[in-house]
Amino acid sequence: MLANNTDTKFWDKQATNFISWFSKWHTTYSGSWDTGDTKWFAGGKLNASYNCIDRHLLDKSDRIAFMWEGNEANQNINISYQQLHDEVCKLANAMKNMGIKKHDKVCIYLPMIPEAIFSMLACSRIGAIHTVVFAGFSHNALLDRIQASEAKLLITADAYMRGDKYIALKNNVDLALNNHHNSIAKVVVVDQSKYITNHNHNINWITDRDIPYEDFISNQAVTCQPEPMDAEDPLFILYTSGSTGKPKGVVHTTAGYLLQSCMSFNNVFNYTSSDIYFCAADIGWITGHTYIVYGPLANAATSVIFSGMPMYPDETRILQIIDKYRVSIFYTSPTALRMLMSKGDQALSSSSRHSLRLLGSVGEPLNPDVWRWYQHKLGKDNCKIVDTWWQTETGSIMLHPTTDNQLPGSVGKSTDYMPVVLLDDDGNEISGTGTGMLAIAKPWPSQVRTLYNNHQFFMETYLQCYPGYFFSGDKAHRDKNDNLFIIGRMDDVINVSGHRVGSAEIENVLIEHPKIAETAVVATSHNIKGECISAFVKLIDGCKANSELYSKLEQLINEKIGAFARPENIFIVTDLPKTRSGKIMRRILRDLVNNKTEFGDTSTLTNPEIVNDLRSQISR
Ligand code: WTA
Repeated sequence: MLANNTDTKFWDKQATNFISWFSKWHTTYSGSWDTGDTKWFAGGKLNASYNCIDRHLLDKSDRIAFMWEGNEANQNINISYQQLHDEVCKLANAMKNMGIKKHDKVCIYLPMIPEAIFSMLACSRIGAIHTVVFAGFSHNALLDRIQASEAKLLITADAYMRGDKYIALKNNVDLALNNHHNSIAKVVVVDQSKYITNHNHNINWITDRDIPYEDFISNQAVTCQPEPMDAEDPLFILYTSGSTGKPKGVVHTTAGYLLQSCMSFNNVFNYTSSDIYFCAADIGWITGHTYIVYGPLANAATSVIFSGMPMYPDETRILQIIDKYRVSIFYTSPTALRMLMSKGDQALSSSSRHSLRLLGSVGEPLNPDVWRWYQHKLGKDNCKIVDTWWQTETGSIMLHPTTDNQLPGSVGKSTDYMPVVLLDDDGNEISGTGTGMLAIAKPWPSQVRTLYNNHQFFMETYLQCYPGYFFSGDKAHRDKNDNLFIIGRMDDVINVSGHRVGSAEIENVLIEHPKIAETAVVATSHNIKGECISAFVKLIDGCKANSELYSKLEQLINEKIGAFARPENIFIVTDLPKTRSGKIMRRILRDLVNNKTEFGDTSTLTNPEIVNDLRSQISR
C-alpha cells in the first residue's frame, strides 16, 4: 500500500495545515489492508473538541458558530464560539464528575438541538466515544445500538416537534431501557418544554437513573482541559445498515477523521470566513457528524442548523431559511430537492436566494434533470453545483466535481491521493470508459478502522472481497474524460431519501409476524425519495390477508426500526422466486417492481412460472 512517498508527503502537509496538534506524529501511515490494520499519524496527540473550539477563541470568540432555527420560524438561538466552549466544558465536567472516562461510550439520542452538538463535543473533549442514534429510530433500534455499543450514559430529550407531530422521545427511552438488559447507568434529559406549545405528556421519571440536563450542568465550571488523545483513539461509533440484519458499528478515529472533515469542508465548498453555511442533514447520520459538526467547526465556520422539516409549515421553509440567514453554501439531499421541485416554480418565487454561491448534494444520485433545476431554478444560475460521493465508512467526501468541471450527474474525477477505481466482476481494474464496482485503491486517513466488536466482518465486508481494494458496495460509470457517475448500490442496501436501510433488517422484522412464512424486501425507484421499499410477503398456509395485517406489519416496522423504514408497498404473494438451493432471487423481484419486462437468466429458478404469476399479483 501507499506505493510511493508522494502520498505521505501530501498527507503530512494537510495534517500540518488543518490540525492543531499537542504533539506531532512520528509515522504518517503504517499498517496493511491484508490485516485491516490501518494507522495514521502514530505518535501524534490532539483533541477534536480543541480543534473545533479552543483554537478559534483567541481572535474569533464572538463569531457565531451556529444559528439554530427551531421547528417554528420564530425559534432561533445564536451560539458564539465562546458560548459553545462554555456549554461544552460544563457538560464535559459534569460527565467527568459522574465518572465517565476516556474510551467510555456515551449514547446521544437527540433531535437537532444545540445540546446534540454540545454532547458530541463534550465527549470528544474528555475522550469518551459518542454513538449518536438518529432520533427517528424506534425504541427497539435504540436498545440494539445501546447493547451493541455498551454505552454507559444516554443523553436524550423529553420530547420534540417534527412539523406538527409531537414525538415523545423519552417514552422511547423508557421502552428501550426499562426491563431490558443494558449498560446504561444514567439518562440525562433535555427539557424541551419551552419549544413545544402543547407539551402534553407526563414525563415518566426514574429518580435514581434520570437527571434533568439543566441540573446536570448547573454549577459546573466553564473550563475543562481537553484530553490529549492518541491519533488512533476512537472518536465515535456510528451504526449504519449493511446487507445483514444487524447494523454495523462503524468506528472512526480521532486524527484521520478530523483531518479529512476539516480539509474537505474547506476544499470542496471553497469555504471562506465570509460564508454562511447550511447543511440540511441530521446529526444522526454521517453527513451530520462530518458536515454539521466536525468539518464546519474545525474551520471556525458559521452554520445554520435546522431542527424542523423542509415542508413545514409549507414548502417554502428551506428557501425562507436561506434568505433569513443569508446562506451562501447550501448542502442537501436529492430527495429534498425533488420534493421542492415537485411543488413547481411558485414555491421558488417566495424567496430571493441572492446570497447563495455554492450548492451541494449528497446521499443519492443527483439525476441530471434535478441537477439542472438546482442550478437554473434554485440557484438562479449564480451557483456552482457540487455533487459529493462518500459513505459512513469513508468518513468524508471522496469524490466531488471541481467548480470548473460542472457536468450534470457527475461526482467528478478520482484524485491521485484518494484513487477511486472501477472493478469488473473478477476484480480487475477497468481502464478508460466503463461501468463497474467502485473501489478505493489506497488507504486514506478518514477511513473506517473496524466494525465495533467485529473485525472479521469488517475484513470480509470491505477488504477481502477484492484484496488490495476497499470495496464500497456502489456501482459507477466513467466517461471518456474520466468523469464518474454513481449508479447506485450493488448490495441489499436500500437508500430511502438518503437513509440507508438493509433489506435483511426489514425482513427480520416482518418475519416476526406469526402469519408470515417468508418475505423478501427490495428497492423500488421512486420519483421523490429516489428509492422506496417494497416488501413481498408469503403467508403461512391457511392465513388470509386483510387490512389489519397490513397495518400490523407497518406498526411492527415503526416499533422495531422507525417510520422512515416503512415499506411503500407490501405485496402478499403466493410464492417467491427461488433457486434450487432455496435462495430467493431478489433480482427478479427488483425487476418486477421497477416495471422491467426482461428478467435475464431465470433458468436457475425452481419455479420459473412464478415470474408471470407475481406480475399479475403485483398489478392487482
Ligand atoms: C449513496 C452518506 C450517489 C451511495 C454520505 C453510498 C450517493 C451511500 C452519493 C452511503 C452521491 C452517497 N451520488 N449516491 N453523491 N453519496 N451516495 O453511509 O450508495 O449514509 O454507498 O453516507 O449513499 O450512505 P451513507
